[in-house]
Amino acid sequence: KRVLRLGIAGLGTVGVGVVQQLHENRDAIYARAGCAIEVAAVSARDPGRNRGVDLSGIRWFADARSLATASGIDIVVELIGGAEGVARELVEAALSHGRDVITANKALLATHGARLARCAHDNGAALLFEASVAGGIPAIKFVREGLAADRLLRVGGILNGTCNYILTTMRDTGRDFADVLAEAQALGYAEADPTTDVDGWDAAHKLAILAALAFGRPVAFDEMHVEGIRGVQACDQHFAREMGYRIKLLGMARQLEDGRIEAFMRPCLIAQQTALAHVEGVFNAVVTEGTFSGPMMIEGRGAGAGPTASAVIADVIDLARGKALPVWGVSPQSPATCAPRALLSG
Ligand code: NDP
Ligand code: HSE
Repeated sequence: KRVLRLGIAGLGTVGVGVVQQLHENRDAIYARAGCAIEVAAVSARDPGRNRGVDLSGIRWFADARSLATASGIDIVVELIGGAEGVARELVEAALSHGRDVITANKALLATHGARLARCAHDNGAALLFEASVAGGIPAIKFVREGLAADRLLRVGGILNGTCNYILTTMRDTGRDFADVLAEAQALGYAEADPTTDVDGWDAAHKLAILAALAFGRPVAFDEMHVEGIRGVQACDQHFAREMGYRIKLLGMARQLEDGRIEAFMRPCLIAQQTALAHVEGVFNAVVTEGTFSGPMMIEGRGAGAGPTASAVIADVIDLARGKALPVWGVSPQSPATCAPRALLSG
């Protein structure tokens, strides 16, 4: 019987979710993958912590980077997080050795995605990242595969579950910001450093990934206009409601005729009668406008163990089926300059 052996780096919300889901949904995953999926090795910082899952018989690596070259591993699954440090070194080393990588790490992809895609290509490895954008929504497949024949004009949406949860809960219950953020952390929605969520950077990373896929070139996400939700107060929500709007952290990117990509991420007023205004709680929405397909929106849970693990395992199944698309669709040119001011005034 064929077996695909995973080396999982990171056993937090998502890593443990993957181990659990592989166990709980084993038969269906086996049927869809056409082979058994086995967790062969894991790594995290604290070897003594009880993670609530059975790790007996699984090799433990004190240094996650060793998963890049260790024998008995077919796919490295990077679930540590962060654009630099061990996560980046592990992914780079694995791809350089021709080892397939699956990651949920949007910070890494937004910062180094084009270079990592080239490294994967040059070494005949696959780099898959369905879980990096919008949790359980198949956002990457939607943009890269579903709209493969189209010429996209815009891509964006509500891309941070923590922020949407905070905005929705504060509005509906009157609870304060710190209290609701702590709840989002306890639910496993927030990043290890939640300022990444509330200051808009996590959503900006996701928008950069979607825009790179949509427009076929890397986006200089650090030149985007990025504003978080810290400044949104109860009175803003109240007045928005009085005027027939809801406040959402919204991002949008579009390509100009000269090839530059304009992109922003900021709190916006959304008219209450639109579908986007009704994307509430931890839900995300990815919106596109295609020259041929017209406007579309896809909605679902944007964060948390279950949805995110499901997206990670979908990538594993794709690899098991031998379905590894050319990753990024990015040509080897420098990042497109963003011009958010032009977008804001236009
Ligand atoms: P957590 O903070 O819950 O888990 C991170 C894990 O990485 C922990 O197990 C930690 O070990 C381990 N770790 C940290 N540093 C190292 C290191 N140097 N070497 C080995 N292991 C290390 O994060 P999440 O599970 O929430 O997120 C993981 C990734 O998934 C991130 O890239 C995140 O952005 C992404 N993601 C998360 C989503 C979510 O809803 N949470 C949704 C979509 C993507 P230890 O447990 O011992 O401290
Ligand atoms: N912290 C992220 C969020 C996790 O809240 O959306 C999902 O990417």
